Amino acid sequence: MSQPVLFLRNANIYQEKNLVLSNVNVEVNSGEFIYLIGKTGSGKSSFMKTLYADLPLTEGEGSIVDFDLASLKEKNIPYLRRKIGIVFQDFKLLPDRTITANLEFVLKATGWTDKQEIQLKIDEVLDKVAMKSKALKMPHQLSGGEQQRIAIARALLNDPELILADEPTGNLDPQTSAEVLQLLREINQNGKTIIMATHDYALLMKFPSKTLKCDDSMIFEVVQRTT
Ligand SMILES: Nc1ncnc2c1ncn2[C@@H]1O[C@H](COP(=O)(O)OP(=O)(O)OP(=O)(O)O)[C@@H](O)[C@H]1O
Ligand SMILES: [Mg+2]
Repeated sequence: MSQPVLFLRNANIYQEKNLVLSNVNVEVNSGEFIYLIGKTGSGKSSFMKTLYADLPLTEGEGSIVDFDLASLKEKNIPYLRRKIGIVFQDFKLLPDRTITANLEFVLKATGWTDKQEIQLKIDEVLDKVAMKSKALKMPHQLSGGEQQRIAIARALLNDPELILADEPTGNLDPQTSAEVLQLLREINQNGKTIIMATHDYALLMKFPSKTLKCDDSMIFEVVQRTT
């Protein structure tokens, strides 16, 4: 039986005083791969931010990887973030250090101390995204697609059950986008739940999956025509 990894019930999502999404009712089960689509400004990032507690849930109920979003305390947000992997459009790698040092930084910040375990973990995640050969490069020495692979590796470091990717292919060309999506699909097939915001419909049609749409301040499931 699949378990819900997250749900929002009767949730209203605000940016400052503006209601961006109203009466959100969404449930995501373990192992799903979900696209989140919608026009620019329709609330995709706001939805994601609510899930990783960058926007507080002030109206309605919500739960994600066993954290209650409505009652979540500021001091517990880092613990929630350890249980989810987050991938952004602009990679957000630290520009002043190597790929290995980027990954090591995250592990140390999340409580890892054993040098050997750290090295093994870094090797493991770089292997998963086929980037082992770039371990000692600086971010600027990598292409956009390679940097996004590293960002995905970084999201895998603490073995999260859920990955939230907000337009991970937004800065990439079509071929590289398809490769990054393929990588996320593989990670999903290995058991991780993934929600990916995108407005790349061509890409989505290549690998159809359950799709939620933000439109007119609402979020609802759309049925994709695959023919
Ligand atoms: N930090 C903010 N402060 C105030 N309003 C914001 C903020 N971020 C977004 N908004 C507003 O909230 C609404 C939803 O924005 P959001 O970023 O969630 O849209 P989106 O669907 O992710 O768009 P895009 O496809 O451009 O990324 C928009 O009207 C936007 O102007
Ligand atoms: Mg956005």
